[in-house]
Amino acid sequence: MVDLVTQHQKIQAELEDAILSVVRSAAYIKGPDVKLFETELATAIGANHVIGCANGTDALQVALMALDLPADAEIIVPSFNYVATAEVISLLKLTPVFVDVHLDTYQIDVAKIEAAITPKTKVIMPVHLFGQCADMEPILALAAKHNLYVIEDTAQAISAEYTFSDGTVKKAGTMGHVGTTSFFPSKNLGCMGDGGAIFCNDDALADRLKTIANHGQRQLYLFERVGVNSRLDTIQAAVLRVKLRYLDGYNAARQKAADTYRELLAPYSDIIVPATVSNSTHVYHQYVLRLAKGNRNQVKKLMDGYGIPTMIYYPFPLNLQEAFAYLGQGEGLFPISEQLCHEVIALPMHTELSHEQQARIVEHLVKAVQATL
Ligand SMILES: Cc1ncc(COP(=O)(O)O)c(C=O)c1O
Repeated sequence: MVDLVTQHQKIQAELEDAILSVVRSAAYIKGPDVKLFETELATAIGANHVIGCANGTDALQVALMALDLPADAEIIVPSFNYVATAEVISLLKLTPVFVDVHLDTYQIDVAKIEAAITPKTKVIMPVHLFGQCADMEPILALAAKHNLYVIEDTAQAISAEYTFSDGTVKKAGTMGHVGTTSFFPSKNLGCMGDGGAIFCNDDALADRLKTIANHGQRQLYLFERVGVNSRLDTIQAAVLRVKLRYLDGYNAARQKAADTYRELLAPYSDIIVPATVSNSTHVYHQYVLRLAKGNRNQVKKLMDGYGIPTMIYYPFPLNLQEAFAYLGQGEGLFPISEQLCHEVIALPMHTELSHEQQARIVEHLVKAVQATL
């Protein structure tokens, strides 16, 4: 699905120099590269503050903790989604409220958000799924109307751009009150282990986020609130400083690969390629197709047999996962999510794909789909 070895080889000397300089400096915790990376990323994405942390899940948890929500707060998240948002909501003993998504874009369906808002709703957490922005303008308008916070999960869409109706362009994670991201190695901006960051434009909120990620201490050994220990390692920050310089090129390579898939798949109307929209760029963290005909699970098995990796993002809507059974939201409530979970299949997507590889992947996908009709 990814080729991190080839990607690494192309910038190996730069990366290894960066790592070695941290190793030799012994500034392993909160070394100078952390602050430098935070500043460089803030400039790159247009955020006033970037706060490094240990991973993208921690980033979401710290973001929620910083809002000081009441114990009965409800938080809106998409039902077709990675687990992290709902997981941290539940972990903090708050309540996730699922909302269905669009069939074509896979993003949270804004038209269905308002019906899910109750007096207890405090936050909307859009997830910019697979590399494209959720439709932020109406989400922000709804949030303003109901006095809600917006936390954007940008783990899959770093540097994707959203265009507002007045022509303003903003990057994913900088439009709401807080944005979060992950630097998991396979992410568009990935480190060599775990890493994450929180984005924010408000100085007071940034101060709270920073304090919470540091055990709740602003001054050494003065713990003003209960926090967590969530740090971005200096070695990972040094790696990320190097890779940030290549991020635009990496995203362009993914977009080129997506264009190639689109061209190769154009003759096959039953294989539905990811939708593009006019108000968001797509940075193709994943290339997720929908099979309108054929048996997706059999197609996956056949592809495995051909030696071609594919993945199912995601096999079940979150409300149908055992971890969230306690919410009592059974089958049929989020029909689009359920449909997607039966129909989607992700093809390899990364910065190093060749046209030949993609042609081979598509040839076998078409063969597999036809075999299951
Ligand atoms: C949408 C989304 N949110 C959050 C996360 C969590 O990131 P991490 O694995 O760094 O905790 C991921 C990771 O895959 C993700 O895809």
